[in-house]
Amino acid sequence: MTSSTETAKTPSLRIGVIGAGVMGTNHGRVLAGLPGVSLVGIVDPLPEHRDRAVELIGCKTFATLDELLLAGVDAVTIAAPTHLHHEVALTCIGRGIHVLVEKPIASTVAEGREIVAAAEKAGVTLMVGHVERFNPAVAAIKQAIRDEDILSIGITRVGPFPPRMSNVGVVIDLAVHDIDLIRWFTDSEITEVQPQLSSAIAEREDIALLQFRTASGVLAHINTNWLTPFKARTVTVATRGKYVMGDLLTRQVTECFGFKADGSYSMRHLPVGHDEPLRAELIAFVNAVSSNGPPAVTGEEGVASLEIAIQCLDQPARPAATAAAPRRAAG
Ligand SMILES: NC(=O)c1ccc[n+]([C@@H]2O[C@H](COP(=O)([O-])OP(=O)(O)OC[C@H]3O[C@@H](n4cnc5c(N)ncnc54)[C@H](O)[C@@H]3O)[C@@H](O)[C@H]2O)c1
Repeated sequence: MTSSTETAKTPSLRIGVIGAGVMGTNHGRVLAGLPGVSLVGIVDPLPEHRDRAVELIGCKTFATLDELLLAGVDAVTIAAPTHLHHEVALTCIGRGIHVLVEKPIASTVAEGREIVAAAEKAGVTLMVGHVERFNPAVAAIKQAIRDEDILSIGITRVGPFPPRMSNVGVVIDLAVHDIDLIRWFTDSEITEVQPQLSSAIAEREDIALLQFRTASGVLAHINTNWLTPFKARTVTVATRGKYVMGDLLTRQVTECFGFKADGSYSMRHLPVGHDEPLRAELIAFVNAVSSNGPPAVTGEEGVASLEIAIQCLDQPARPAATAAAPRRAAG
């Protein structure tokens, strides 16, 4: 019997992580420290990755998904390689388990849509790990452009080759983050895609310059590659009344505003929070599950961003116009 001074405790949400690679280990580390969460364990077929998870997190590990499911979970986060997202997500959703799946939601749009449909049918929460939305610098930019008439967005996401090459290029691995940001900043869908891709070293594209137009008329571009010796992640947004510049790594966000006819303007640094993006993302997932409310990044949004990324890869290269007469500069 509960005494009147005792409060009824909500049982913790039992969560398992699938994949003990770079992302999965981070999921496990963060989940192990979240209030209201009980980390059941991490699944990975590789013994050395399981050992690393035990060493870093001190949690239980499992060699197969079946073993984790047997231990009993309410929710999972899927950080296995992308080509396995579809199979793993459908298995979990089929058991009525809530799912957070890493970005990109799946390898193909059809697979992504199947995951979304299955989650809807089963009535479970499905969220996609577009973690950049939880970067406090991104949140500050989103806040700064709220109610502004956005004209254009420029995003740079460059860096060195990843230590482990998967079977995807920069568009699916990196640009999908920024496609999601463009859709989110503008609250609009991308309707025109003009990609330029190149493979300087890798088999897949390792350089991409992508241009877009949204249904709301915003122009956007993404400059991404694996050929820069250091990481850089910057966002600029031009609106009718402001120019916002954000560095997603140093988390410095500055806005220029109050443009005057004489060319003068004001400038200020915006306050930016310190939260770890992955922690904020996983808290948002736990809250969506607990409240049975809509997740911060829905499965449909994950599919929409993947669809644009795949369109960038599928566009046939257009030869330079040779038939037209050469253009001459005026004057
Ligand atoms: N949100 C982000 O910023 C971000 C960053 C990196 C990766 N990712 C995504 O996270 C996912 C994993 O990427 P990563 O960089 O951690 O890759 P990784 O190669 O480091 O890790 C993948 C892990 O999954 C394991 N695995 C393989 N088959 C499995 C199975 N059947 N069941 C369980 N585990 C299995 C592998 O042994 C490996 O340990 C990918 O979908 C990737 O796109 C997201």
